[in-house]
Amino acid sequence: MVPNSGSRLSIDYRNVMAEAIGPEHGLTAAEIDALAPKVTTEHDRIWAEHAAGEQKWFDLPDNTALADEIVAYAQEVSETYDDYLLVGIGGSSLGAIATIQALAHPHRNLLPKEKRGGPRFFVLDNPDPEKVKATLETVDLSRTLVNVVTKSGQTAETMANFLVTLEALEAAVGKDQARKQVLATTDPESGLLRQLADEEGYRTFQVPPGVDGRQTVLSAVGLIPAALAGVDIHQLLAGAAALRDRCKNPDLRQNPAYLLAAIDYLATTTRAKSMLVTMPYADALYGISDWFRQLWAESLGKRLSTAGKEVFAGQTPIKALGAIDQHSQIQLYTEGPNDKVISLIRVGAYRDEVTIAAPPVSIEELAYLKRAELGQLLDREALATAWALTQAQRPNYTITTPVIDAFAVGEFFFLYELQTVMGGALFDVNPFGQPGVEAGKNATYALMGRAGYEGLRDELLTGSAGASPYVIEA
Ligand code: PA5
Repeated sequence: MVPNSGSRLSIDYRNVMAEAIGPEHGLTAAEIDALAPKVTTEHDRIWAEHAAGEQKWFDLPDNTALADEIVAYAQEVSETYDDYLLVGIGGSSLGAIATIQALAHPHRNLLPKEKRGGPRFFVLDNPDPEKVKATLETVDLSRTLVNVVTKSGQTAETMANFLVTLEALEAAVGKDQARKQVLATTDPESGLLRQLADEEGYRTFQVPPGVDGRQTVLSAVGLIPAALAGVDIHQLLAGAAALRDRCKNPDLRQNPAYLLAAIDYLATTTRAKSMLVTMPYADALYGISDWFRQLWAESLGKRLSTAGKEVFAGQTPIKALGAIDQHSQIQLYTEGPNDKVISLIRVGAYRDEVTIAAPPVSIEELAYLKRAELGQLLDREALATAWALTQAQRPNYTITTPVIDAFAVGEFFFLYELQTVMGGALFDVNPFGQPGVEAGKNATYALMGRAGYEGLRDELLTGSAGASPYVIEA
């Protein structure tokens, strides 16, 4: 166990060790400790870069002035609007979804406004025409705040969804009023949305320059939707800051972010565990595993090393949910290819407890459930899964949070962000930027006929033209 020094998350990694699962699949203490000099060097580099004004994501937990401004803004608009529509994708929406799923009532949108506190929450991320149309039919556009969020200011999905929404909004309330109902969260200076916001006079908040989209959850990108959903955003920042303070300790065995990075790196590169499953035993934390999935994938999945050598690095992140995936995925994880690390997340005490009613006396086989708590059942299932995986020599570790609250969610965000940055150092790739995503974005622009992409469009259309023996027509 890593002793708790400030933050409240604990990490039990006994089941990734050779003592528990054997040397073929398990790590040795010596292997972990051999990474310590590299981790210390990288720790010093990260903190030195932070001190020099780089690694700007590191500073986000300190921005309590921004949090004050956002709380005031949320109070101001909560009265005016019944619905809040976030238009954004990837790092511009996943953090908000994760935060609200973790911290708001699971059926918040169905509650009456006085119980709900603040507007209902809707997201347009995918440009799926069925979902977009249904969402615009569901919200009351005359009382909807439209928050378009894009760091680049030009992502095709986001801008398309925004233009559709804007047209519907203008039809509902008129052009002048529509302008007042748009909030743009984007780069302070560059990008098409910034240009449009300046032209139209939209109210704006900043996506902080120098921070990748997937690390913006603790900026206005994630804090505005969280505050509107009633989340205590100061506690979110406090939790992140506490985890960061704890991680001032360069000792690999005491620093949870570095330890997890080291385990996942060693498991990938020395034990062929090419996948990382994140499996919380709480519905509320499922969104965090989805948010982490993007972070781990986009940051570490890189073709080139920092020296420009082809390495095809990365570990495929998978999201799962306990106990549901015990009835879906665990068969594979336990008996299929031994190619995964499973990260279980446990909760010390759920926010609500439900006692199981006594079964009829005639059904003796159910007597074991009598007067037990549902949370107790769920948590014991986490323990049982860890045990079953270990018996099958599947490396697994458990992160435990005593409760799910804003502080804990802030801790998870910072833990995973720092784990990812250290992961980049260990895998020897640049965890920032996403050249593979940009290639697809450019191809989309080309196929949609955007000016300046004509050459790429010709190339793409030539490549897919004509009959192919590898296509079966309907
Ligand atoms: O991490 C990233 O930077 C990306 O995943 C982006 O968040 C995503 O592509 C959306 O980009 P943008 O915010 O520019 O619309």
